[in-house]
Amino acid sequence: MQREQLKQYLEFYRDLGIDELRLPSPSPIVAEPPPPPAPPVSEPAMPPRAAATPKPAIAPVTLIPLAPENDTLLTIQQDIGDCKRCRLCHGRNKIVFGSGNEQAPLVFVGEGPGADEDAQGLPFVGRAGQLLTQMIDGTAGKEGIPIKRQDVYICNVVKCRPPENRTPEPDEMEICGQFLFRQLLAIKPKAICALGSTAAKALLGTKDGVMKLRGKWHKWRDIPVMVTYHPSYLLRPYNQNAKRESWEDLKKVLHFVYD
Ligand code: URA
Repeated sequence: MQREQLKQYLEFYRDLGIDELRLPSPSPIVAEPPPPPAPPVSEPAMPPRAAATPKPAIAPVTLIPLAPENDTLLTIQQDIGDCKRCRLCHGRNKIVFGSGNEQAPLVFVGEGPGADEDAQGLPFVGRAGQLLTQMIDGTAGKEGIPIKRQDVYICNVVKCRPPENRTPEPDEMEICGQFLFRQLLAIKPKAICALGSTAAKALLGTKDGVMKLRGKWHKWRDIPVMVTYHPSYLLRPYNQNAKRESWEDLKKVLHFVYD
């Protein structure tokens, strides 16, 4: 592999939050059925042989492909196909790829589909989604910015619903993160708004929480990223202060992108 290509891979993996390359695990995530047991052998047909040649210490690492040139949302969706790359495939009904304006200057990234999204195949269509729509439409309206939800693009870190809406596991984020990154590279928005800590972690590779990250600009590649609270968090009645802060964050993002 050429030096430049290796550098690109390492940057790509760093963006995925991977700072260490490990050997492939002995059992794949979506396990194949075990082979049938070998029939019993009564007598060895041949005398025992000398010990087999030792395996090389370093097994080849399968690299996640870099974003292809001239990648499009359509190609990315085709590449996802009927995805069985991780365990989330077992419980999903529909893969939730993303929706909205494919040339949007602003992309919102959530965590992963919930029950409503899994049923409809569209992101943020449940209660949290309704709040997100109100936040986008309402804030833009009040600030005199002529956009609505359909003018931005919305997607998630993982495209399949985690069971019981649990937080996606690191390996699930790692596997699905490649598609999120390809989506962002294909859209090339002027800014990204990360909704909640899972999106922040996927994009910024940080373990810091939203309280620490919100309200300030960060970067994914060269694209400015604003982190704010996830709308599900804002639906809890005791988080009214966070709601105010989220509105402030959104105002900043909208003015930055559309002024
Ligand atoms: N929560 C998310 O993070 N994404 C959705 O699409 C819906 C709820």
